Amino acid sequence: MRKMPKVELHLHLEGAAPPAFIRGLAKEKHVDLSGIFDEKGAYRFRDFREFLKVYEVATSVLQSPEDYRRLVLAVLEASAASGVVYSETFLSPDFCGGRDVGAWREYLHAISEAADQAERQMGVTLRGIITCIRHFGPEKARETARCAAETAGDWIVGFGIAGDERVLEPKDFAWSFDCAREAGLRLTAHAGEWGGPGSVRAVLADLEVERIGHGVRAIEDLALVDELAERGVVLEVCPGSNVALGLYPTIRAHPIAELDRRGVKVTISTDDPPFFHTTMAREYEELHRAFDWDEGQFARIARQSLDAAFCDADTKAKILKKLEA
Ligand code: ADE
Ligand code: ZN
Repeated sequence: MRKMPKVELHLHLEGAAPPAFIRGLAKEKHVDLSGIFDEKGAYRFRDFREFLKVYEVATSVLQSPEDYRRLVLAVLEASAASGVVYSETFLSPDFCGGRDVGAWREYLHAISEAADQAERQMGVTLRGIITCIRHFGPEKARETARCAAETAGDWIVGFGIAGDERVLEPKDFAWSFDCAREAGLRLTAHAGEWGGPGSVRAVLADLEVERIGHGVRAIEDLALVDELAERGVVLEVCPGSNVALGLYPTIRAHPIAELDRRGVKVTISTDDPPFFHTTMAREYEELHRAFDWDEGQFARIARQSLDAAFCDADTKAKILKKLEA
Protein backbone atom coordinates (compact mmCIF):
# COMPACT_ATOMS: atom_id res chain seq x y z
CA MET A 1 0.00 0.00 0.00
CA ARG A 2 2.81 2.36 0.89
CA LYS A 3 4.51 1.83 -2.47
CA MET A 4 1.51 2.49 -4.73
CA PRO A 5 1.90 5.96 -6.32
CA LYS A 6 -0.75 8.27 -4.89
CA VAL A 7 -2.34 11.60 -5.76
CA GLU A 8 -3.73 13.72 -2.91
CA LEU A 9 -6.03 16.67 -3.64
CA HIS A 10 -7.21 17.75 -0.18
CA LEU A 11 -4.54 18.62 2.38
CA HIS A 12 -4.45 21.68 4.66
CA LEU A 13 -0.84 22.82 4.99
CA GLU A 14 -1.08 23.87 8.65
CA GLY A 15 -3.30 20.87 9.38
CA ALA A 16 -0.55 18.61 8.09
CA ALA A 17 2.01 20.00 10.56
CA PRO A 18 3.43 17.19 12.72
CA PRO A 19 2.82 17.99 16.43
CA ALA A 20 6.55 17.62 17.18
CA PHE A 21 7.28 20.24 14.51
CA ILE A 22 4.81 22.69 16.08
CA ARG A 23 6.18 21.98 19.57
CA GLY A 24 9.71 22.65 18.28
CA LEU A 25 8.71 26.02 16.85
CA ALA A 26 6.81 26.90 20.05
CA LYS A 27 9.94 26.15 22.09
CA GLU A 28 12.12 28.32 19.82
CA LYS A 29 9.65 31.20 20.17
CA HIS A 30 9.01 30.66 23.90
CA VAL A 31 5.29 30.14 23.37
CA ASP A 32 3.40 27.79 25.71
CA LEU A 33 1.20 25.50 23.64
CA SER A 34 0.90 22.68 26.19
CA GLY A 35 -2.90 23.06 26.30
CA ILE A 36 -3.40 21.80 22.76
CA PHE A 37 -1.56 18.50 23.20
CA ASP A 38 -2.54 15.34 25.07
CA GLU A 39 -0.23 13.29 27.30
CA LYS A 40 1.06 11.37 24.27
CA GLY A 41 1.93 14.58 22.45
CA ALA A 42 -0.92 14.37 19.92
CA TYR A 43 -3.27 17.27 19.17
CA ARG A 44 -6.13 17.29 21.70
CA PHE A 45 -9.74 18.16 20.70
CA ARG A 46 -13.18 16.65 21.25
CA ASP A 47 -15.19 17.90 18.31
CA PHE A 48 -14.98 19.96 15.13
CA ARG A 49 -15.31 23.32 16.90
CA GLU A 50 -12.42 22.47 19.23
CA PHE A 51 -10.47 21.07 16.28
CA LEU A 52 -10.72 24.46 14.51
CA LYS A 53 -9.55 26.23 17.68
CA VAL A 54 -6.58 23.92 18.23
CA TYR A 55 -5.72 24.29 14.54
CA GLU A 56 -5.62 28.07 14.85
CA VAL A 57 -3.57 27.99 18.08
CA ALA A 58 -1.03 25.57 16.57
CA THR A 59 -0.83 27.78 13.48
CA SER A 60 -0.06 30.85 15.63
CA VAL A 61 3.61 29.72 15.97
CA LEU A 62 4.02 29.77 12.16
CA GLN A 63 5.09 33.39 11.95
CA SER A 64 7.43 33.85 9.00
CA PRO A 65 8.15 32.65 5.45
CA GLU A 66 11.07 30.67 6.91
CA ASP A 67 8.68 28.83 9.27
CA TYR A 68 6.51 27.88 6.29
CA ARG A 69 9.56 26.79 4.30
CA ARG A 70 10.41 24.34 7.08
CA LEU A 71 6.77 23.28 7.36
CA VAL A 72 6.53 22.41 3.66
CA LEU A 73 9.63 20.21 3.88
CA ALA A 74 8.29 18.41 6.99
CA VAL A 75 4.87 17.87 5.40
CA LEU A 76 6.21 16.63 2.07
CA GLU A 77 8.60 14.25 3.78
CA ALA A 78 5.56 12.55 5.33
CA SER A 79 3.69 12.60 2.00
CA ALA A 80 6.62 11.03 0.15
CA ALA A 81 6.94 8.32 2.83
CA SER A 82 3.31 7.40 2.06
CA GLY A 83 3.94 7.10 -1.69
CA VAL A 84 2.37 10.43 -2.67
CA VAL A 85 3.76 11.66 -6.01
CA TYR A 86 1.47 14.68 -6.48
CA SER A 87 -0.32 16.77 -3.89
CA GLU A 88 -2.40 19.94 -3.78
CA THR A 89 -2.35 21.86 -0.53
CA PHE A 90 -4.69 24.49 0.87
CA LEU A 91 -2.92 27.71 1.85
CA SER A 92 -4.49 30.68 3.59
CA PRO A 93 -3.10 34.22 3.37
CA ASP A 94 -5.03 34.68 6.65
CA PHE A 95 -2.19 32.74 8.32
CA CYS A 96 0.55 33.90 5.94
CA GLY A 97 0.96 37.63 6.35
CA GLY A 98 -2.56 38.58 7.43
CA ARG A 99 -3.91 38.88 3.86
CA ASP A 100 -1.45 41.63 2.90
CA VAL A 101 -0.52 40.99 -0.76
CA GLY A 102 3.14 42.00 -0.33
CA ALA A 103 3.63 39.81 2.74
CA TRP A 104 1.73 36.96 1.08
CA ARG A 105 4.11 37.07 -1.90
CA GLU A 106 7.06 36.55 0.45
CA TYR A 107 5.39 33.54 2.09
CA LEU A 108 4.49 32.12 -1.31
CA HIS A 109 8.06 32.53 -2.54
CA ALA A 110 9.41 30.55 0.44
CA ILE A 111 6.68 27.90 0.14
CA SER A 112 7.11 27.28 -3.58
CA GLU A 113 10.92 27.20 -3.24
CA ALA A 114 10.60 24.56 -0.53
CA ALA A 115 8.23 22.63 -2.78
CA ASP A 116 10.77 22.72 -5.63
CA GLN A 117 13.45 21.44 -3.25
CA ALA A 118 11.17 18.61 -2.09
CA GLU A 119 10.40 17.70 -5.69
CA ARG A 120 14.10 17.34 -6.46
CA GLN A 121 14.95 15.48 -3.25
CA MET A 122 11.83 13.40 -2.54
CA GLY A 123 10.05 13.10 -5.88
CA VAL A 124 6.77 14.63 -4.73
CA THR A 125 5.23 17.52 -6.69
CA LEU A 126 3.16 20.13 -4.82
CA ARG A 127 0.75 22.84 -6.02
CA GLY A 128 -1.25 25.37 -3.98
CA ILE A 129 -4.93 26.19 -3.63
CA ILE A 130 -5.61 29.45 -1.80
CA THR A 131 -8.50 29.13 0.62
CA CYS A 132 -10.57 31.66 2.46
CA ILE A 133 -11.96 30.63 5.84
CA ARG A 134 -15.75 30.61 6.04
CA HIS A 135 -16.06 31.58 9.72
CA PHE A 136 -13.68 34.54 9.21
CA GLY A 137 -16.44 36.09 7.05
CA PRO A 138 -16.89 37.48 3.50
CA GLU A 139 -14.84 40.67 3.94
CA LYS A 140 -11.66 38.77 4.82
CA ALA A 141 -12.49 36.33 2.02
CA ARG A 142 -12.46 39.23 -0.47
CA GLU A 143 -8.96 40.22 0.71
CA THR A 144 -7.89 36.58 0.37
CA ALA A 145 -9.33 36.45 -3.15
CA ARG A 146 -7.31 39.56 -4.05
CA CYS A 147 -4.14 37.78 -2.84
CA ALA A 148 -5.19 34.80 -4.96
CA ALA A 149 -5.82 36.88 -8.07
CA GLU A 150 -2.45 38.65 -7.66
CA THR A 151 -0.51 35.39 -7.42
CA ALA A 152 -2.50 33.10 -9.72
CA GLY A 153 -0.11 31.28 -12.00
CA ASP A 154 1.69 28.06 -12.49
CA TRP A 155 2.14 27.23 -8.79
CA ILE A 156 -1.11 28.63 -7.35
CA VAL A 157 -3.67 26.65 -9.31
CA GLY A 158 -6.92 27.00 -7.41
CA PHE A 159 -9.13 28.83 -4.96
CA GLY A 160 -11.41 27.40 -2.30
CA ILE A 161 -13.13 27.82 1.02
CA ALA A 162 -12.59 25.87 4.27
CA GLY A 163 -13.67 26.45 7.85
CA ASP A 164 -17.00 26.06 9.58
CA GLU A 165 -19.65 25.10 7.04
CA ARG A 166 -22.41 25.78 9.58
CA VAL A 167 -22.00 29.57 9.48
CA LEU A 168 -23.01 31.97 6.69
CA GLU A 169 -23.99 30.85 3.15
CA PRO A 170 -21.95 30.05 0.03
CA LYS A 171 -23.53 32.98 -1.81
CA ASP A 172 -21.93 35.34 0.74
CA PHE A 173 -18.60 34.34 -0.85
CA ALA A 174 -19.68 34.58 -4.50
CA TRP A 175 -17.69 37.79 -5.11
CA SER A 176 -14.47 36.10 -3.98
CA PHE A 177 -15.07 33.06 -6.15
CA ASP A 178 -15.91 35.26 -9.17
CA CYS A 179 -12.67 37.19 -8.58
CA ALA A 180 -10.61 33.97 -8.41
CA ARG A 181 -12.33 32.49 -11.48
CA GLU A 182 -11.64 35.65 -13.49
CA ALA A 183 -7.96 35.33 -12.51
CA GLY A 184 -7.93 31.87 -14.11
CA LEU A 185 -8.05 29.80 -10.92
CA ARG A 186 -9.92 26.50 -10.68
CA LEU A 187 -12.47 26.20 -7.88
CA THR A 188 -13.31 23.88 -4.99
CA ALA A 189 -15.33 24.34 -1.78
CA HIS A 190 -15.76 22.44 1.48
CA ALA A 191 -19.40 21.29 1.65
CA GLY A 192 -21.37 18.22 2.62
CA GLU A 193 -19.22 17.62 5.69
CA TRP A 194 -21.12 19.54 8.41
CA GLY A 195 -23.91 20.54 6.03
CA GLY A 196 -26.23 18.17 4.19
CA PRO A 197 -27.19 17.87 0.50
CA GLY A 198 -28.50 21.47 0.46
CA SER A 199 -25.03 22.73 1.29
CA VAL A 200 -23.55 20.75 -1.63
CA ARG A 201 -26.21 22.09 -4.01
CA ALA A 202 -25.49 25.64 -2.81
CA VAL A 203 -21.74 25.58 -3.58
CA LEU A 204 -22.46 24.15 -7.04
CA ALA A 205 -25.10 26.78 -7.81
CA ASP A 206 -23.65 29.86 -6.10
CA LEU A 207 -19.87 29.32 -6.33
CA GLU A 208 -19.77 27.20 -9.52
CA VAL A 209 -17.07 24.91 -8.20
CA GLU A 210 -15.85 21.87 -10.14
CA ARG A 211 -14.66 19.94 -7.09
CA ILE A 212 -16.11 19.62 -3.60
CA GLY A 213 -14.13 19.16 -0.38
CA HIS A 214 -15.77 16.14 1.30
CA GLY A 215 -19.25 16.29 -0.29
CA VAL A 216 -19.97 12.90 1.22
CA ARG A 217 -23.31 13.88 2.75
CA ALA A 218 -24.68 14.10 -0.79
CA ILE A 219 -25.41 10.41 -0.14
CA GLU A 220 -28.46 11.57 1.87
CA ASP A 221 -30.12 12.64 -1.42
CA LEU A 222 -29.80 10.12 -4.25
CA ALA A 223 -31.06 12.59 -6.87
CA LEU A 224 -28.09 14.78 -5.95
CA VAL A 225 -25.75 11.78 -6.16
CA ASP A 226 -27.03 11.12 -9.72
CA GLU A 227 -26.50 14.78 -10.59
CA LEU A 228 -22.90 14.72 -9.28
CA ALA A 229 -22.22 11.59 -11.34
CA GLU A 230 -23.80 13.05 -14.50
CA ARG A 231 -21.98 16.38 -14.19
CA GLY A 232 -18.66 14.73 -13.32
CA VAL A 233 -18.25 16.73 -10.11
CA VAL A 234 -15.21 15.43 -8.22
CA LEU A 235 -15.38 14.75 -4.48
CA GLU A 236 -12.23 15.17 -2.39
CA VAL A 237 -13.11 12.45 0.09
CA CYS A 238 -11.23 12.19 3.40
CA PRO A 239 -12.56 9.02 5.05
CA GLY A 240 -10.25 8.99 8.10
CA SER A 241 -11.01 12.65 8.82
CA ASN A 242 -14.76 12.00 8.69
CA VAL A 243 -14.46 9.08 11.10
CA ALA A 244 -12.10 10.94 13.47
CA LEU A 245 -14.53 13.88 13.65
CA GLY A 246 -17.50 11.59 14.27
CA LEU A 247 -19.38 11.94 10.98
CA TYR A 248 -19.40 8.14 10.61
CA PRO A 249 -18.62 5.54 13.27
CA THR A 250 -16.26 3.45 11.09
CA ILE A 251 -14.70 3.39 7.62
CA ARG A 252 -17.05 0.53 6.80
CA ALA A 253 -20.00 2.87 7.49
CA HIS A 254 -18.48 5.60 5.30
CA PRO A 255 -20.31 6.31 2.00
CA ILE A 256 -17.20 6.49 -0.25
CA ALA A 257 -17.75 3.02 -1.73
CA GLU A 258 -21.46 3.66 -2.36
CA LEU A 259 -20.71 7.01 -4.02
CA ASP A 260 -18.12 5.29 -6.21
CA ARG A 261 -20.56 2.52 -7.15
CA ARG A 262 -23.12 5.14 -8.13
CA GLY A 263 -20.66 6.71 -10.57
CA VAL A 264 -19.48 9.73 -8.59
CA LYS A 265 -15.82 10.66 -9.18
CA VAL A 266 -14.31 10.07 -5.74
CA THR A 267 -10.71 10.75 -4.75
CA ILE A 268 -8.85 9.90 -1.51
CA SER A 269 -7.15 12.42 0.81
CA THR A 270 -6.14 12.91 4.45
CA ASP A 271 -7.34 16.50 5.19
CA ASP A 272 -5.24 17.15 8.33
CA PRO A 273 -3.31 13.89 8.77
CA PRO A 274 -1.63 14.21 12.21
CA PHE A 275 -4.82 15.61 13.74
CA PHE A 276 -6.72 12.53 12.57
CA HIS A 277 -3.93 10.00 13.16
CA THR A 278 -3.78 9.13 9.48
CA THR A 279 -1.52 9.07 6.41
CA MET A 280 -2.26 8.35 2.75
CA ALA A 281 -0.89 4.82 3.17
CA ARG A 282 -3.17 4.32 6.17
CA GLU A 283 -6.23 5.55 4.20
CA TYR A 284 -5.46 2.97 1.50
CA GLU A 285 -5.04 0.20 4.09
CA GLU A 286 -8.32 1.07 5.82
CA LEU A 287 -10.24 1.21 2.53
CA HIS A 288 -8.75 -2.11 1.47
CA ARG A 289 -9.81 -3.66 4.77
CA ALA A 290 -13.31 -2.14 4.81
CA PHE A 291 -14.31 -2.58 1.15
CA ASP A 292 -11.81 -5.09 -0.16
CA TRP A 293 -10.56 -2.51 -2.65
CA ASP A 294 -7.62 -3.91 -4.60
CA GLU A 295 -4.68 -2.48 -6.47
CA GLY A 296 -6.73 -2.01 -9.65
CA GLN A 297 -9.36 0.02 -7.79
CA PHE A 298 -6.71 2.24 -6.17
CA ALA A 299 -4.92 2.71 -9.50
CA ARG A 300 -8.22 3.77 -11.12
CA ILE A 301 -8.86 6.29 -8.33
CA ALA A 302 -5.30 7.67 -8.53
CA ARG A 303 -5.80 8.24 -12.27
CA GLN A 304 -9.20 9.85 -11.60
CA SER A 305 -7.53 12.11 -9.04
CA LEU A 306 -4.82 13.17 -11.48
CA ASP A 307 -7.48 13.95 -14.10
CA ALA A 308 -9.17 16.20 -11.52
CA ALA A 309 -5.92 17.92 -10.46
CA PHE A 310 -5.74 21.68 -11.11
CA CYS A 311 -2.14 21.69 -12.44
CA ASP A 312 -1.17 22.23 -16.10
CA ALA A 313 -1.03 19.53 -18.79
CA ASP A 314 2.79 19.19 -18.74
CA THR A 315 2.78 18.51 -15.01
CA LYS A 316 -0.04 15.99 -15.43
CA ALA A 317 1.87 14.16 -18.17
CA LYS A 318 4.93 13.94 -15.91
CA ILE A 319 2.89 12.57 -12.98
CA LEU A 320 1.00 10.15 -15.23
CA LYS A 321 4.31 8.47 -16.07
CA LYS A 322 4.86 7.89 -12.34
CA LEU A 323 1.38 6.41 -11.94
CA GLU A 324 1.99 4.07 -14.86
CA ALA A 325 5.51 3.05 -13.80
N1 ADE B 1 -9.93 23.16 7.88
C1 ADE B 1 -9.08 22.16 8.14
N2 ADE B 1 -9.71 20.97 8.11
C2 ADE B 1 -11.01 21.23 7.82
C3 ADE B 1 -12.16 20.43 7.66
N3 ADE B 1 -12.12 19.09 7.78
N4 ADE B 1 -13.32 21.04 7.39
C4 ADE B 1 -13.36 22.37 7.27
N5 ADE B 1 -12.32 23.17 7.42
C5 ADE B 1 -11.14 22.61 7.69
ZN1 ZN C 1 -10.53 20.05 4.56
